[in-house]
Amino acid sequence: MKTYLVTGGAGFIGANFIEYLFETKKEAVKVINVDALTYSGNLENLKRVEDNPNYIFVKADICDKAAIEQIFAGHDVDYVVHFAAETHVDRSIRNPEVFAKTNVMGTLNLLNAAKNAWETEDGYKEGKKYLQVSTDEVYGSLEEGNTFFYETTPLDPHSPYSASKASADMLVKSYADTYQFPVNITRCSNNYGPYQFPEKLIPLMINNALSGKKLPIYGDGLNVRDWLYVKDHAKAISMVIDNGKLGEVYNVGGHNEKTNIEIVTIILDTLQEILPADDARRAGVTKELITYVADRKGHDRRYAIAPDKIKEDIGWYPETKFEDGIRLTIQWYLKHQQWMENITSGQYQEYYKEMYSI
Ligand code: NAD
Ligand code: DAU
Repeated sequence: MKTYLVTGGAGFIGANFIEYLFETKKEAVKVINVDALTYSGNLENLKRVEDNPNYIFVKADICDKAAIEQIFAGHDVDYVVHFAAETHVDRSIRNPEVFAKTNVMGTLNLLNAAKNAWETEDGYKEGKKYLQVSTDEVYGSLEEGNTFFYETTPLDPHSPYSASKASADMLVKSYADTYQFPVNITRCSNNYGPYQFPEKLIPLMINNALSGKKLPIYGDGLNVRDWLYVKDHAKAISMVIDNGKLGEVYNVGGHNEKTNIEIVTIILDTLQEILPADDARRAGVTKELITYVADRKGHDRRYAIAPDKIKEDIGWYPETKFEDGIRLTIQWYLKHQQWMENITSGQYQEYYKEMYSI
C-alpha cells in the first residue's frame, strides 16, 4: 500500500486530490493530510473521505520542523504531494511576508524532512518521490496572441505570490541537482471546481451573483486565464507521481483561454438557465451587477499553458469541457449554500470590506 503525505489537503485542490485518490486508485492507498487550517483550509472539504480508515489528518504548519519530522518518523511515506501554500495574489500584494514564510521556508522544511527520512548510504529508498505543486504564474505574463508557456520558458514572476512559488521551485530543483533528490514539479493553470475559496474569481462571482451583490471586474476585464477543471488537475498530479520521469517539470493546462468578462458572463447566463423560475434570486442575476473596479497592481495580462510534454510523455490531457465543468461547478455551489455561508460569515466579511469598496 502506497502512503501519500499530502500537504494543504484541506484546501481547494488538495481536497479534490485526496478524493480523487480514494475514488480512483485500484489498490488501497493511505493518505496523511497535513494542514495548518489557515483561512482557506476547511475540514468540511473532506467530509467524503474523513471516515476512510486509510485517511489521517494532522493539524500542523509545514514550517514546524518537529511536527513534520514526527510525521516521517511515524509513517513510511512513499510520496510527498506538496499543495500547502498561501495562494491568493491580492493577499500577497497586501501582505507578502507570510507568502515567503509558508511558500519558501515551508517548502524548504518539507524538502529537508523528506530527504532525511528517505536517505540511504548510497542514495534514497526505492520508489520515493516528492512532487511540488507549482503554478503557471511563475512564468510571468504573455501578450495577446499565439504564444504559450513551455517548461523551458524562463521564470519571470511578478507578484509576491508568484515570486514565492518560483523561489520554492528553485529550491526543489536545487535539491534534485545537488542531492539527486527524487522530484517532479507540476505547473498548472487556473483551476475551478468544488471547494474553491470565494476570494478567487469564479466562486466569488457565483456567490455575489446569488446574493445580488456587485461583480467586481479588475481593469478592463480583458485579462486572460487558461481554466482547467480541478479533477483534471488531480488526475495530472496522480499520473505524474506514477509515471513522471524524475527531475522533470510538467506543465498542466486546459487550452481553455477566456477573458475575465467572458467568465463572468458565462456564470450569469448559466445561473439564469439553471435557477428554477420560482427562485427569488433569479431576477437579480443580471449583467447590471457587473462593476469595473481599479485594476490589480502588476496584473498579469495573459496566461496560456502548452501541455504538450505531459500529453506526449505521460498521456494526460484535459478531459472536462469547460461548458460541462462550469455547469458542474455552479450546480455544486448551488447545492452547497451552507458551505458557502459557513465560510463567508466570519473573517471573510472583513477581508471583503478591505479589498472591495463597492
Ligand atoms: P487553497 O488556498 O485553497 O489551499 C491552501 C491550503 O494550504 C489550505 O488548506 C491551507 O490551510 C493550507 N496551508 C496554508 N499555509 C499552510 C502552512 N503554513 N502549513 C500547512 N498548511 C498550510 O489553495 P489551492 O488553490 O488549493 O492551491 C493549492 C496549491 O496549488 C498551491 O500550492 C497553489 O500554488 C497551487 N496552484 C493553484 C492553482 C489554482 O488555480 N488554485 C493553480 C495552480 C497551482
Ligand atoms: O494560474 C494559476 C493561479 O491561478 C494560481 O497559482 C493561484 O493560486 C490562483 O489564485 C490563480 O491566480 P489568479 O490571480 O489568476 O486567480 P484569481 O481568481 O485571483 O483571478 C483570476 C482573474 O480574475 C485575474 O485576472 C484577476 C481577476 N479578478 C479576480 C478577482 C478575485 C477580478 O477581475 N475580480 C476579482 O474580484
